[in-house]
Amino acid sequence: MCGITARVGTGAAIGELLSGLRNLEYRGYDSAGVATVTPDGINVVKHQGEIDVLCDAIDQSSVRGTTGIGHTRWSTHGPPTDANAHPHTDCLGQVAVVHNGIIDNYAELKDELSAHEFTSDTDTEVIPHLLEEFLSAGYGPEEAFRRTVDQLSGSYAIAAVFEGTDTVFGTRSGSPLVLGRASDAYYLASDVPAFLEYTDEVAYLHDGDVVAMHPDGYTITDTDGNSVDRPFETIDWDPNDAGKGGFDHYMLKEIYEQPAALRQAIRGRADPLEGRVEFEELPEDAFAGIDTVHLVAMGTSYHAALYATTLLSDRGIPAHAFLSGEYGSNPPPVDDSTLVIAVTQSGETADTLSAIRSIQGTGAHTLALTNVVGSTITRECENTVYIRAGPEIGVAATKSFSSQVATLILLSERLSYDTNGGTPRESSDLLSSLAALPDDVQRILDEPTAESVAATYHDADSYFFIGRGIAHPVALEGALKFKEITYDHAEGFSAAELKHGPLALVTANTPVFAVFTGRDDTKTLHNVKEVRARDAPIIAVTADRDTKVDDYADHVLRIPDTHHDVAGILANVQLQLVSYMAADMLSRPIDKPRNLAKSVTVE
Ligand code: F6R
Repeated sequence: MCGITARVGTGAAIGELLSGLRNLEYRGYDSAGVATVTPDGINVVKHQGEIDVLCDAIDQSSVRGTTGIGHTRWSTHGPPTDANAHPHTDCLGQVAVVHNGIIDNYAELKDELSAHEFTSDTDTEVIPHLLEEFLSAGYGPEEAFRRTVDQLSGSYAIAAVFEGTDTVFGTRSGSPLVLGRASDAYYLASDVPAFLEYTDEVAYLHDGDVVAMHPDGYTITDTDGNSVDRPFETIDWDPNDAGKGGFDHYMLKEIYEQPAALRQAIRGRADPLEGRVEFEELPEDAFAGIDTVHLVAMGTSYHAALYATTLLSDRGIPAHAFLSGEYGSNPPPVDDSTLVIAVTQSGETADTLSAIRSIQGTGAHTLALTNVVGSTITRECENTVYIRAGPEIGVAATKSFSSQVATLILLSERLSYDTNGGTPRESSDLLSSLAALPDDVQRILDEPTAESVAATYHDADSYFFIGRGIAHPVALEGALKFKEITYDHAEGFSAAELKHGPLALVTANTPVFAVFTGRDDTKTLHNVKEVRARDAPIIAVTADRDTKVDDYADHVLRIPDTHHDVAGILANVQLQLVSYMAADMLSRPIDKPRNLAKSVTVE
């Protein structure tokens, strides 16, 4: 976690560094800092707390320098204090460094640097002291940087500035770093939104690349020092897409972006008339010889993966979802007939990268399903399918879940076609429902009914979410969203599991959200009757056509009538709205829930 940014060019750097940090705040927000290169030396300002605290502490007009680096932190080594905030400097204050990731061998390096005075608890601080060693040995900044990086093991993206030069040096290994190019400036950042207001030209750096950027240009060299070309691409994200666009929170904006995101996910991939699905990014034979699918993911992405196992099983393809943090430590047997799909919005989740790395060399085939173009997972997997949801800034994943599931529905169709020797399924109904999905989501958003549910129940002790089949992962996701942003206790269960234990906790103060998707509804209705008999309030999420549940529910959140496979996405939108409304009524910091960060780049 943590966001880093750097800028060289004409005009003062400070304003662009701070706006870059604001746009990266989703990566971490417990402390922040900047360093600029001035004729008098390196000027560092850093503070515990959110970016606003740093901004308040800075008189921007007095911060000189056209070259600088910045950092917003999510603590891994040492508590969020001023001293632990980045940038970190050497003993002489001649270099400043920002870092995202973990230096695994920092303890050994710190021992070797025992003559240096360390002022923080961080792993990062070994970097400026190593740079100091190499500068003292007579190396110039670039060689000192390269030799320092050679000493590091772990995952990192680093940017460094040196006294007396307006060049910024950067590198990455296992953590993201992108280069931006404008007419009068260059940028380095953990993610594109950091500089999207200034340029849409982006080059994705690879692990081991060392970039040196200065006002007149840049060079990129690989681990061996050879010059490499990382082509610039034009990003078609509107800078406003990376802002709140008039909504109170990114989360609400992203919930409302779902119709557009879903249109993008489906665009050009599904032909309801022919019953065919195509992914232009996949080779013809991408799934040749596959007979088993493993899906590895964490959090919300894991719930999307679980949803996909039901879709695939329904199509006769054995499929299992695994928490990637478990899979990587103890991978199950796989061979060249296994397809392992990494489901990850960010493409940078360390657990999921490690799961994929754990089966390299086994012959198993790998596919990344991600939102972030050029993210690390796309380089670790044989093939990539993008969910095309656009930037997701709110820490709580919303539109990415819908787009993941929609894309997984399409992938399931394609896998089914390929593994059945090219026999099309009777899938026109499903593909028509998928084509109608953006409008169906819009119908829910146009007439939101979740507010009265949130108003009635936001003071309860504990919340249960239940469902069967694809409604089970939707229940799990409903509970995850609710607990993440309201801080109230919420649990998701298979409705089948309820009377095997959790029912003991059900009281009149335990609202139960029951998800109906048009299959196994009768059994779920029995479970609803069981909790109702314990006086628990029932909130049913169900299709328009379903009236049976009305007799047993205190509230009904309707979803448009649709294909069973698609209904879970609609039900989840209703649950997203309930969680958002309840958290808003409780005045929670919705976009930045405590203890959480958007991108979890450590295991
Ligand atoms: C929950 C949430 C997290 C992520 C998880 C995986 O709202 O956002 O649970 O889903 O950290 O992240 P990705 O999808 O980036 O691998």
